Amino acid sequence: MLFQNALIENSETLSDIRVSDGVFDEILPKAEPLPGEETVDLKGKLVLPPFIESHVHLDACLTAGDPVWNMSGTLFEGIECWSKRKDKLTESDIRERVNRCVRLYAQNGVQHIRTHVDVTDPELTALRTLIALREEMKDVAEIQIVAFPQEGILSYPNGKQLMRDAVALGADCVGAIPHFEFTREYSVESLNFALQLAAENGRLVDVHCDEIDDEASRGLETVAARALELGLFDKVTASHTTAMHSYNNAYVLRLMRLLKMSRINFVANPLVNTHLQGRADTYPKRRGITRVKELLQEGINVSFGHDDIFDPWYPMGNGSLRDVVFMGLHVCQMMGYEEIMNSYRLITQNAAKTLHISERYGIKQGLPANFIVLDAKNWYDALNRNAPVLRSVRGGKTIAETTPGQSKVLV
Ligand code: FE2
Repeated sequence: MLFQNALIENSETLSDIRVSDGVFDEILPKAEPLPGEETVDLKGKLVLPPFIESHVHLDACLTAGDPVWNMSGTLFEGIECWSKRKDKLTESDIRERVNRCVRLYAQNGVQHIRTHVDVTDPELTALRTLIALREEMKDVAEIQIVAFPQEGILSYPNGKQLMRDAVALGADCVGAIPHFEFTREYSVESLNFALQLAAENGRLVDVHCDEIDDEASRGLETVAARALELGLFDKVTASHTTAMHSYNNAYVLRLMRLLKMSRINFVANPLVNTHLQGRADTYPKRRGITRVKELLQEGINVSFGHDDIFDPWYPMGNGSLRDVVFMGLHVCQMMGYEEIMNSYRLITQNAAKTLHISERYGIKQGLPANFIVLDAKNWYDALNRNAPVLRSVRGGKTIAETTPGQSKVLV
């Protein structure tokens, strides 16, 4: 099949993309159709590698208002709402919601999803269900699963064993939540345990790290030190790191050296952390997002995630990562022309590094023919006009398409 007239990744010149047996066969400025070859004219639209959701909680998705709405919008009321919803958590409930949510993502051009799944559950119901869905939904999206100890590893009964069980069942990544552990000692020990568990079992690591406005929350330095010492390097990701927003600059200067040596990835979640952080502040209110701009300037990998989709902690979300980037650029003050134009990388190439899939991701000859077509001429245009994803192609097959709506001014 020949896809003609594509503007690949902000290129100003057109390309033709030939796909054979589900892989990119040729990418040329102009290709003549072979005898009998099917052609699709992309009409000079923007073509990108598929979007990647590098941080979400699918086990809680699409539960906002069920059974009660979070009236204050705070994290703590979210936890109260969730504890009421948790009673109804069954395999069929999780299956139905995750199916709907992954399909919402598909409509928006997302083909890779890293989901955190709560394993502070003696039955590990959500984890088992997500592991089954990972296989069942692989034609829609590649799902990566993090064993996420929502209530702590040391601070939850049998927490270490639940993490070991989750890894044995097939979790792809080991998580942790150091800022939620009862004590600083537990926090450090939980990270030592999590990274060691990952190293012993050949797993990736993604820690909910310092998701708090407390400037004394310093799980990040332990994550980075263990990533370096255990040789895990870029297999390790620190998500959120919102406390870093509040660290003093002298400490950040010292920390930055270790972060670069460790080569760990960062995930920021601009929608959710702008909404949830700073709640203990009066004025000025902190923005509650990690130092994205400075990390990128130091050559450290950062991707953006949605975190929550319409759940007790975040009452919005339709599976569009465009909104995540849009908010992130505002709140991180990254609205220079080049920053806007290249910001798709926060949900494509940078996120591929986070998921550790870079070697099999991108629009390159010989790789799986996965790409998306947006109703725009470049990413700046797509972001500004909230352009729909016209087509999402996975393994050479179109798995989702959108017909743009039309509006007219009548006067
Ligand atoms: Fe999260």
